[in-house]
Amino acid sequence: MANKLWHGRFKKGTHPLLEKFSESLSYDRELARVDIRGSLAHAAMLARVKLIAASDLASIKRGLAQVEKEIAGGTFVYRAADEDIHMAIEARLTAIAGEPAKRLHTARSRNDQVATDLRLWLRDKIAGLQKLLRRTQAAAVAVADREKELVIPGYTHLQRAQPVLLAQHLLAYVEMWERDFDRLADANRRVNFLPLGACALAGTTLPIDREFVAQELGFAGLCANSMDAVSDRDFVIETLAALAILFVHLSRLSEDLILWASSEWRLIKLDDAWSTGSSIMPQKRNPDFLELTRGKTGAIFGALTTLLTIMKGLPLTYNRDLQEDKTPLFGAVATAELTLTCFAEFIPTLFFDKKRAAAMLADGFLEATALAEYLVEKKTPFRDAHRISGELVRIAEDTDRRLADLSLEEMQAVSPAIGPDLLPRLNPQTLPNAYRSAGSAGTVEVKKSLARWKKKLGR
Ligand code: ARG
Repeated sequence: MANKLWHGRFKKGTHPLLEKFSESLSYDRELARVDIRGSLAHAAMLARVKLIAASDLASIKRGLAQVEKEIAGGTFVYRAADEDIHMAIEARLTAIAGEPAKRLHTARSRNDQVATDLRLWLRDKIAGLQKLLRRTQAAAVAVADREKELVIPGYTHLQRAQPVLLAQHLLAYVEMWERDFDRLADANRRVNFLPLGACALAGTTLPIDREFVAQELGFAGLCANSMDAVSDRDFVIETLAALAILFVHLSRLSEDLILWASSEWRLIKLDDAWSTGSSIMPQKRNPDFLELTRGKTGAIFGALTTLLTIMKGLPLTYNRDLQEDKTPLFGAVATAELTLTCFAEFIPTLFFDKKRAAAMLADGFLEATALAEYLVEKKTPFRDAHRISGELVRIAEDTDRRLADLSLEEMQAVSPAIGPDLLPRLNPQTLPNAYRSAGSAGTVEVKKSLARWKKKLGR
């Protein structure tokens, strides 16, 4: 008969297949450290309200310190029969500390224990992800600053649209990451409440002090309803939703960079250290890092969908289904950590082919909108201005010229409002100097954005 902490009411041992099927120890060891942190606070509280003796607390503390050491040192023996990390630690603690260890689970259930562990774990992870986001932002701001003069074609519908500063394109992602940062902070505001003391679902008849535990563990407050405390994982869903949106952003940046590095664009050449070769085509320089980021986005969305699906239709309160929250969450967080760490290292290696950028600007009538706006300044109604600019584009296109190559007479034949002062507006290279609306992609506003970001990121 297997030696289980809950075996009291059973006559037969667990079927080995069920043991294999239901264990979580192979992955929830990720929670070992926070589980010990939670137990220490719980034990301190039990001693404080005199549910255990001061000497019990001392033995538990000593025992848990040893367990922690064994786990950190890799000597801790994980036995599948222990089911999960909570049981594994308690079993080992009991072997070390004896009688006092058997009092630790007073006024506690694995239901409130695992919810507490998960919140403690997530709180730390969110703080770490936020730091990584800051590093990624700083890397992008540094490149934007280094390349602040560079003008590239901006696109809509993947068609060349208007000239923009490259810095504006990079800073667009810095803005997105700022909202990702805020979404994580906001999720964390709801992560940071203490479930412990909810026990299995109903609370307890014992005189526990939840406020004390919350303070010990640095929680902002208590989960106010015991049944809610043990059964919801909305805080996991919120974090995964924030990560899913973060990966939408990382995946779009990846796509932009894949295009820029493509043989057709040739705007960037990927650094050797961040390119991969082909096993058959010797000339290849592949953007696998970026493709993998785009690909890993699928698993992050999958984690969010998994959690939503697990929770849907789950009756109150705790059900074992909830154990399945862990692999998707741990996987998504680990992927996010690694991906952001890579981006923070990779972004500074981005260098741009200035000649290629200039050649792309020369082609595609990127100055046509500015021409229409020039006419608006000359009091032409915008709809007419749009048509006139379009007609001039057609004339230039038909004769294989650029707008700046048309003679003043040719242009005045289409609109008498056009004067020689139009010419500087027809140079896509200098056009961004003329953008003046707040937040626009030109020299004046981008300079302000760069200054704002450098200040914010302390660079
Ligand atoms: N390993 C379980 C989980 O992750 C811990 C809680 C188990 N509770 C229970 N009543 N079986 O959810």
